[in-house]
Amino acid sequence: MEKTLLIIKPDAVQRNLIGEIIRRIEAARFKIANIRHLRMAKSVAEDFYAVHRGKPFYDELCNYMSSGPIVPMIVEGEHAVAGIRELIGKTNPAEAHPGTIRYDMAVSLTKNSVHASDSTENAAREVKFFFPREE
Ligand code: CMP
Repeated sequence: MEKTLLIIKPDAVQRNLIGEIIRRIEAARFKIANIRHLRMAKSVAEDFYAVHRGKPFYDELCNYMSSGPIVPMIVEGEHAVAGIRELIGKTNPAEAHPGTIRYDMAVSLTKNSVHASDSTENAAREVKFFFPREE
């Protein structure tokens, strides 16, 4: 059993896609182990995406991620990290495969509807970031 962090980003929250995204996660037999609804201050977004500090898209990314409410959640299941990455599709929606969340819903590379941890190490850090009391 593995845990990963998935975030429904501001563009998807704003377009009432929370339910559809959760439906797809559950239909793929994963469990939502915990969930929140919040708006990050820009400084919090900068901390969360600290690995991207210095990259050309960092400022736009942090501005965007603090522009409206997001829905971070812990997703649990067998091979959850790889399984959820497969379900959401490639970072750039133009490269995502049909049937993936990003192919179906994303607007652009920045407004790509969802984020999910890309490794078990990052999953542990990202889960703790939004759910500090989680085991
Ligand atoms: P995410 O999975 O949340 O991780 C970092 C985010 O930066 C990524 O999704 C994209 O939304 C955003 N981003 C913007 N430009 C780029 C880029 N050139 N390469 C990677 N990520 C980018």
